[in-house]
Amino acid sequence: MFVGKMVRLRSFELSDLDEIMKHWNVRDLRQLLGSIDRGAVSSHEEEEWIRNTWKRRQEREAFTMAIEDIAKGKLIGGLGIFNIDWTSRSAEIGISIHNPKYWGKGYGKEALSLLIEFAFRDLNFNRLGLEVFEFNLRAKKCYINVGFQEVGRWRKKKYINGKYHDSILMDILKNEWKKHLTNRSRIGK
Ligand SMILES: CC(C)(COP(=O)(O)OP(=O)(O)OC[C@H]1O[C@@H](n2cnc3c(N)ncnc32)[C@H](O)[C@@H]1OP(=O)(O)O)[C@@H](O)C(=O)NCCC(=O)NCCS
Repeated sequence: MFVGKMVRLRSFELSDLDEIMKHWNVRDLRQLLGSIDRGAVSSHEEEEWIRNTWKRRQEREAFTMAIEDIAKGKLIGGLGIFNIDWTSRSAEIGISIHNPKYWGKGYGKEALSLLIEFAFRDLNFNRLGLEVFEFNLRAKKCYINVGFQEVGRWRKKKYINGKYHDSILMDILKNEWKKHLTNRSRIGK
């Protein structure tokens, strides 16, 4: 359904729990996501979280999907569309590749491209937004590469690792996404 060259987006399954638990309580990942202050999570909580993604999709409250490495048939992370305003056709997105071995190799770019296509082409959104911490340069570059632009920042929004950090606000409109796609195919990227 959502298949690229390297990744496939699919529903989370309970069989993903073991792979999630290998990475989910790792400090580096939780700092990048800003969820370190929630403490360690149990596999039982994660199971509930997975079940909740099914319910929220059925109720059209959020669309959360697993990212699978096609070559290995292995779960590498998750991503989703949430905070949906159906009247304004606007929503937020988020992504996490849990396994650091997969960072910086183009998996995030492809997974986000598939998600954005689903949001604009199939769900008919007009705007997608996101927040990223100022120190997360890899994520920010990845978002720029799929067409997001910086539109503002919340100053000192989050206390992580002993310091307050700004949160950068980025968004993309449907017409900008169409132009981005045209430019990409023109330069063959
Ligand atoms: C953010 C994330 C989804 C990006 O996916 P990814 O597969 O690692 O990213 P990609 O390889 O597609 O793209 C990363 C880009 O950042 C660049 N990059 C990597 N490290 C960088 C750094 N320290 N500074 C600046 N740019 C950097 C890469 O060169 C690449 O750009 P390029 O393709 O133009 O060369 C993934 O790293 C991740 O999930 N990280 C942990 C959780 C997280 O940070 N989630 C986002 C929260 S907002």
